[in-house]
Amino acid sequence: MMRKKLAIVAWLAVWAAAALSAVSCRAKETRGHLKLSDFDTLALKPPMGWNSWNKFGCDVDEEMVRRMAEAMVQSGMAAAGYEYVVIDDCWQTARDDEGNIIAGPERFPSGIKALADAVHSLGLKFGIYSCAGDKTCEGRPGSRGYEEKDARQYAAWGVDYLKYDWCHTEGLQADPAYKKMRAALEAAGRPIVFSICEWGRSKPWLWARGVGHLWRTTGDIKDKWESVLTLLDLQVGLEEYAGPGGWNDPDMLEVGNGGMTSDEYRAHFSLWCILAAPLMAGNDLRTMSRETAFILTNPDVIAVNQDALGVQGRRFSKEDDREIWVKPLADGSLAVALFNRGQSKARMSVSWAEMKIETSTCYVRDLWKRKELGRFLSGYSADVPSHAVVLVKVKPSNIID
Ligand code: GAL
Repeated sequence: MMRKKLAIVAWLAVWAAAALSAVSCRAKETRGHLKLSDFDTLALKPPMGWNSWNKFGCDVDEEMVRRMAEAMVQSGMAAAGYEYVVIDDCWQTARDDEGNIIAGPERFPSGIKALADAVHSLGLKFGIYSCAGDKTCEGRPGSRGYEEKDARQYAAWGVDYLKYDWCHTEGLQADPAYKKMRAALEAAGRPIVFSICEWGRSKPWLWARGVGHLWRTTGDIKDKWESVLTLLDLQVGLEEYAGPGGWNDPDMLEVGNGGMTSDEYRAHFSLWCILAAPLMAGNDLRTMSRETAFILTNPDVIAVNQDALGVQGRRFSKEDDREIWVKPLADGSLAVALFNRGQSKARMSVSWAEMKIETSTCYVRDLWKRKELGRFLSGYSADVPSHAVVLVKVKPSNIID
């Protein structure tokens, strides 16, 4: 067997080690009172899936969700790694006399169990939404006071993923409220990915590891370039809190929803991959264009997101509208995004020395073109169109596979 010699540059080793040790220290602290269970291994990589909210809002029904799950398979999304099919707000309409949550009978006539079974039969996983408050954000019944009952119901239905929102939570504190639901899910006995959605208000990155598998760090994304920039900027400084088992969530994807150009969607997707963000597609998979499918399923770009090292990339430099984002990868390479936020084309460069790479030669691969560009001495430059990225993998030549 060939031995793999990793000549990881000094700053990369220090950075990755610091991130991972921070993660494992926090894990020990916060998990002390919880039993180790299958929950802990549910999100060793950022979760990938589809969620109804960004495109459909409250206009959800079982037929649409079934077709979306089928489209996830037929479009190549499932093969690319997308797994969870999640219904967001508005599936629930009332509670019965015993307090059991009820799915709207007109839109979900077969019931949630049948829908979960249908999604499972395609080899996919099924997710649902509720809220820590009395009501959901759209005024449907929330889980406050019904945490154990709801968790048992979800487990019985075969739910694999719960997004848990933060509307109508007057008098509640986020940390204990989310811990309560996490404990209820564990007690219900079915491993369920727990997606904390309190918009970053209580800095969940400080307390949510060991409680949820992903935690929103911001308010809602919009299908607009300015929104992508706003959310991106809010991730700076949160890098050390992400890692295998728990991820910062800058909100779901808008790729393919129509409000941005193709370059902007590629930039949005590239940056979410550099950030090790959960990848929850938010478009109509049944009718997506080839370009949208190309963006969402590019294996080289997804590999950056799903890389086993699990380190969230960071903004390495910023000069006006020109930013370099870097994510270290498990094989000692770096994913590098040359990101031009500005209105006109820009020539952008990175130098190996400035990135503290100890060798003078690196191999560069263009991840969107899926093409090896060759050996580069001392650095790499590219013309980056307005509102776009050039995304490359930089492999120091002293790394031998
Ligand atoms: C918001 C949440 C959105 C969506 C919406 C549903 O609070 O951030 O992603 O879930 O509620 O009402």
